[in-house]
Amino acid sequence: MKILITGGAGFIGSHVVRLFVTKYPDYQILNLDALTYAGNLENLRDVENASNYKFIKGDIADQNFIDQLFAHEQPDAVIHLAAESHVDRSITDPMAFVKTNVIGTVNLLNAARSLWQPGGYEGHVFYHVSTDEVYGSLDFGPEMFTEETAYDPRSPYSASKASSDHFVRAWHHTYGLPIKLSNCSNNYGPNHFPEKLIPLAIHRLRTGQPVPVYGKGENVRDWLFVKDHATAIDAVFHKGKEGDTYNIGGVNEWQNLKLIELLCDVVDEKTGQEVGTSRKLIKFVTDRAGHDMRYAIDSSKIMNELGWKPSVTFEQGLAQTVDWYLANEEWLNSVTSGAYQDYNQKQYAGR
Ligand code: NAD
Ligand code: DAU
Repeated sequence: MKILITGGAGFIGSHVVRLFVTKYPDYQILNLDALTYAGNLENLRDVENASNYKFIKGDIADQNFIDQLFAHEQPDAVIHLAAESHVDRSITDPMAFVKTNVIGTVNLLNAARSLWQPGGYEGHVFYHVSTDEVYGSLDFGPEMFTEETAYDPRSPYSASKASSDHFVRAWHHTYGLPIKLSNCSNNYGPNHFPEKLIPLAIHRLRTGQPVPVYGKGENVRDWLFVKDHATAIDAVFHKGKEGDTYNIGGVNEWQNLKLIELLCDVVDEKTGQEVGTSRKLIKFVTDRAGHDMRYAIDSSKIMNELGWKPSVTFEQGLAQTVDWYLANEEWLNSVTSGAYQDYNQKQYAGR
């Protein structure tokens, strides 16, 4: 089987590529990635010479390129992760999210349909990896997002992901394209780009800079270790029902401030500082526009139907993550040079 994985040089994609290349030596894995600021082939150095792996640089928003790629490579299946993924960037540049997340997804759907339909859809699958943010925002009650929760996206990022989910389902209902979807909560772990809360905080603590907490730090997110998301994607790809959606989460809700305080203490312990030192760097800053209050995900469907569950506790995952960032200073330095500094200046200036 030849699988086209899009966005494989990014955070989650690189863990998915590694898992599939190493676990399934009989599969051919094509990694299609535009190598935007978030894509980094350093994430895949350990598998880049594997005989069942090939990297292709290209933009999913370029229709001609995508059509030619499908005609030439003839993939049997697609696991689609390529996206603009950062909510703050979607607030300042929404059109980039429309281009990649919406138009890019439709280009892939069209190309898969054209390639597969003449011979029938048997043995093919188009799997879209999506987010829990499409469901909107919860208050602090017991409610959780289920696969039946109505869509209510509220940021340009989540609107673009909701739109792409709708297009994927429309291609199933209208053209019979065999699709699968999953909607996951916040990931964390190695190779996470340091614009997202956890790696941003580790990077800033490491370099003695303030750690920005939006608003009062009351917002709640559910956190899942990235390698556990990769095994969930493996389960959905191989065992998930055609046409179905699976919610994926860590059963692990944290208020942002509590999470940052815990992270500060882990960093202090790992770096041999007196516990409490890092907490002094916490800085409350202006809130994110339209900041969703709480995400909580009910993962019972994937757990009960596909037998998936997270392999690590949050404490274990966070410790592994901090260890990875402390041991991979070079990676962090390389991704935080140049353009990253301009972004940071604009993002946090005056806050
Ligand atoms: P990321 O930003 O780290 O990586 C995205 C990758 O897509 C990068 O390698 C980038 O170069 C590539 N890319 C961007 N635009 C492209 C284009 N036009 N053509 C080809 N490649 C392009 O993102 P991530 O955090 O790894 O997220 C991966 C997917 O999982 C996304 O679809 C995201 O919506 C979804 N998701 C992320 C999370 C999370 O917590 N990070 C949670 C749930 C779902
Ligand atoms: O829920 C899944 C989503 O999780 C994914 O679909 C997105 O791709 C991913 O980026 C993530 O979105 P969030 O907006 O929740 O993640 P982020 O790390 O940007 O922020 C986490 C929380 O921390 C959020 O409530 C905003 C807050 N925050 C974030 C940053 C960057 C801060 O308080 N300070 C910060 O500097």
